[in-house]
Amino acid sequence: MKALVVFDSVFGNTEQIARAIGSALGDVDVQAVGDAKPEQLAGLSLLVVGSPTRAFSPTPAIKKFLARIPKGGLKGVHIAAFDTRISVDDVDSRILPPLIKVFGYAAKPIADRLVKKGGVPVIPAEGFFVDGEEGPLKDGELERAADWAKQIMTNLR
Ligand SMILES: Cc1cc2nc3c(=O)[nH]c(=O)nc-3n(C[C@H](O)[C@H](O)[C@H](O)COP(=O)(O)O)c2cc1C
Repeated sequence: MKALVVFDSVFGNTEQIARAIGSALGDVDVQAVGDAKPEQLAGLSLLVVGSPTRAFSPTPAIKKFLARIPKGGLKGVHIAAFDTRISVDDVDSRILPPLIKVFGYAAKPIADRLVKKGGVPVIPAEGFFVDGEEGPLKDGELERAADWAKQIMTNLR
């Protein structure tokens, strides 16, 4: 199976999650979004895309990567999306929680855009939690990411 994990990461947390997912998937490429090339999409069975949540959204680099995928470019490709995010319970603000409820996180819009390009979701979009704006990852999140990836493999069987 040809699979690719594409991630963006500012402080390194999303990269750690992407690499944990890559290891659990097996022999797959894990690529920073800046180095990902459109040719890599050819013949893919599975594309996993992950981003830090920034202002309720994926990063500009991930948005650009998604926008550059040609229409129908993911026809028949299984897709999965994840993000890293701050738990609403850790947000020390009265204003933010209702906004988070409305605007959400990065993973769902990534999944939606992958589906728009023809991708077939293999698992619901998932978020992994960091402690504070720059991380680190909360305890157990790398293991949860590996479990999520294993679930992808199970769903593909
Ligand atoms: C400018 C900025 C905006 C952010 N916006 C959000 C947000 O809307 N929702 C959220 O849950 N976390 C937000 N965060 C926290 C990021 O999700 C966190 O920095 C990220 O998960 C870390 O991943 P990275 O180490 O891969 O960059 C924000 C952080 C920064 C610095």
